[in-house]
Amino acid sequence: MTNKKNLRIEGLSAESLVARFGSPLYVYSKASLLGRLTALKRAFSKREPLICYAMKANPNREVCRIMARAGAGADIVSGGELLRALAAGMRPERVVFSGVGKTADELELALKRRVLTLNVESSEELDALERIARRLKRKAPVSIRLNPDIDPKTHPHITTGRSENKFGVERPEAMRLFRKASTSPWLRVQGIQCHIGSQITDTRPYGLAARAVTGVIKELAGEGIALEMADFGGGLGVTYQNEREHPVGALAKILTAALAPWPAMRLLLEPGRYLVADAGILLTRVLYRKSTSRRRFLIVDAAMNDLGRPALYGAWHPIAPARPRTGPRQAVDIVGPICESGDFMGRDRLLPPCEPGDVLAIFKAGAYGFAMSSQYNSRPRAAEVLVEGSRAKLIRRRETLKDIVRNEL
Ligand code: LLP
Repeated sequence: MTNKKNLRIEGLSAESLVARFGSPLYVYSKASLLGRLTALKRAFSKREPLICYAMKANPNREVCRIMARAGAGADIVSGGELLRALAAGMRPERVVFSGVGKTADELELALKRRVLTLNVESSEELDALERIARRLKRKAPVSIRLNPDIDPKTHPHITTGRSENKFGVERPEAMRLFRKASTSPWLRVQGIQCHIGSQITDTRPYGLAARAVTGVIKELAGEGIALEMADFGGGLGVTYQNEREHPVGALAKILTAALAPWPAMRLLLEPGRYLVADAGILLTRVLYRKSTSRRRFLIVDAAMNDLGRPALYGAWHPIAPARPRTGPRQAVDIVGPICESGDFMGRDRLLPPCEPGDVLAIFKAGAYGFAMSSQYNSRPRAAEVLVEGSRAKLIRRRETLKDIVRNEL
């Protein structure tokens, strides 16, 4: 990937941002964040869904605040995410709580803070929730997460709706849990949820999921159990290399048609990546160049602890110099300082000649980038900056060496 002009994020040059905030640096464009949310809302305007931003993709408070102000809710998977969502101004009645291993403390916190619904993923979790609801004398809002055994044809690590996955419950068990919940004085059956995986670029698996979900809704209705909401999870894919971006217009048509028999039913979506991936860029500086008899390396100051997706999933992120360079393009491996051969940002990339000090941009890093960063190799985590027009705001300061040892005794 090459760019003809100096790379800018909205009105600011990438190089000026690194000069001001250091490297490696995560930079997010506010316009891009809002643009994606607006596009999704527009595509689904006929059904006006509640869009619950899957904040695991990027839980930074400022990012969540932007989503909240634009009317989104949150999909959370831990007590930590609940507290962060509320701190960012998310309204609890727009928060849904997913996850196979919610602890008693987390269930209690969710009930006390009055989240919209808990997406229950097992029979034992339902029992635990009922016990806590009884003790708190507060009726628990319950949705059951269906595992429809659908293969979304994405990376195996991010497939969640197959029978061999730990997520949700299969249809017969789902029916049993709905019936059980509907007879409990401490549980209020609200809806059904189904999230089948991530980075899905095709609408077909959603069509199958919709069929599974509406099958359950119908069968329950026949037994007098009326659901109020259907949540189709997240998973909408973006373009990293040559995949096509998820056609949200087509998806909206499919889900809207599936729910047409139930006009009052609320539609929920839990997108993470689709909203934030494009908005984020990881900027890094070239430290050194070196070659072996077989490969050429650019060693940069960002590593797998900053962006783990290439190492974890073999993910491909576009990479380009922030300032256009001339000269013949050569295949290089862009690698970090961490002591593992899996520590790479990109392999075999055709780049013009780069020099130590040059800034490289790793694109599409807004989702599951900083969110999955660590301090591996005792590396302080990067800073995060939000750009709005020609203003840049530090939204998470760079960690220091002190931060790394702060909790050690
Ligand atoms: N809802 C639930 C219940 C989820 O588990 C997830 C993601 C989402 C919504 C949002 O999915 P999205 O719209 O972002 O695809 N670290 C991996 C992705 C893991 C996804 C986990 N669950 C990656 O970097 O590709």
